[in-house]
Amino acid sequence: MAQPAMSGVPLPDGSKAPALGQGSWHLALGRHPAAEEEAALRTGISLGMTLLDTAELYGEGRAERMIGRVIAGQRDKVFLVSKVLPYHATTADGIRQACMGSLSRLGTHYLDLYLLHWRGDVSDLSVVVNTFESLRGEGRIRRWGVSNFDVADMEDLFRVPGGNACAANQVLYNLTQRSIEADLLPWCIQHGLPIMAYSPLGMTGGLLSNAALTRVAQRHQRSPAAVALAWTMRSGHVIAIPESGSPDHVKENASALSLRLTEQDVNELSHGF
Ligand SMILES: NC(=O)c1ccc[n+]([C@@H]2O[C@H](COP(=O)([O-])OP(=O)(O)OC[C@H]3O[C@@H](n4cnc5c(N)ncnc54)[C@H](OP(=O)(O)O)[C@@H]3O)[C@@H](O)[C@H]2O)c1
Repeated sequence: MAQPAMSGVPLPDGSKAPALGQGSWHLALGRHPAAEEEAALRTGISLGMTLLDTAELYGEGRAERMIGRVIAGQRDKVFLVSKVLPYHATTADGIRQACMGSLSRLGTHYLDLYLLHWRGDVSDLSVVVNTFESLRGEGRIRRWGVSNFDVADMEDLFRVPGGNACAANQVLYNLTQRSIEADLLPWCIQHGLPIMAYSPLGMTGGLLSNAALTRVAQRHQRSPAAVALAWTMRSGHVIAIPESGSPDHVKENASALSLRLTEQDVNELSHGF
């Protein structure tokens, strides 16, 4: 079992992305006070969760605006990821306008990674590839990738000229949702690109109260969330992007960066879910 890449997950261009990030799907929607959510994001950044994942979709731009406030004055410390909706990705103009909108809301002049949020009705991926490459040439984005692509979608993408410059695929992956291990995860590893695991805590739909997870967490004197995240990152090819609007939860999550699971832990977790 490979050890998790705590110093970062390798990207196809030879750089590294932080192994543990922070999501923002349900932030800036009043689930917690805004000041608490911003404090949670700042806490995460200070503890090494420096990849921030957002999208034009989230709160119709409110999550990007919140992240813009959080990264003001510390843009160089974070690896910023946003996403274009498939409805905007059928034309070059649509992608460009979406990208400029995200940059403006985030208060930055570049994204570290820009993703197609899901494939939707985008049958011609060459428009996406060519426009992402133009944005990269102009310095608006440093890299581009996709989200919710299965192996067939990835093969379509790699058939497009320049499609193999894709830097990451962001998909669902956690202890209760492991289907990518059968095909997509090995495909991505073979082609040298990482998976970004979304909903790594299972959106807390019972995952964190699992008995095997609780047992392993007690053994390491960590929270179940920290163990679930360490499990997600264990191969060194997966970036985990848990979301939290609570500074205390973020501290628990960040502790996954220093947690090494043993083979026994991993086996127990495999049998326990
Ligand atoms: N590309 C896509 O299509 C896609 C789809 C889904 C998600 N995503 C991305 O992935 C991110 C994470 O996924 P997600 O939000 O679906 O699910 P998640 O990260 O698995 O779970 C989020 C939930 O976990 C709770 N939580 C966080 N840390 C905790 C802890 N230590 N103890 C107990 N509860 C904790 C949060 O509540 P508190 O705020 O109270 O901590 C929140 O309710 C999203 O924010 C988004 O950026 C992408």
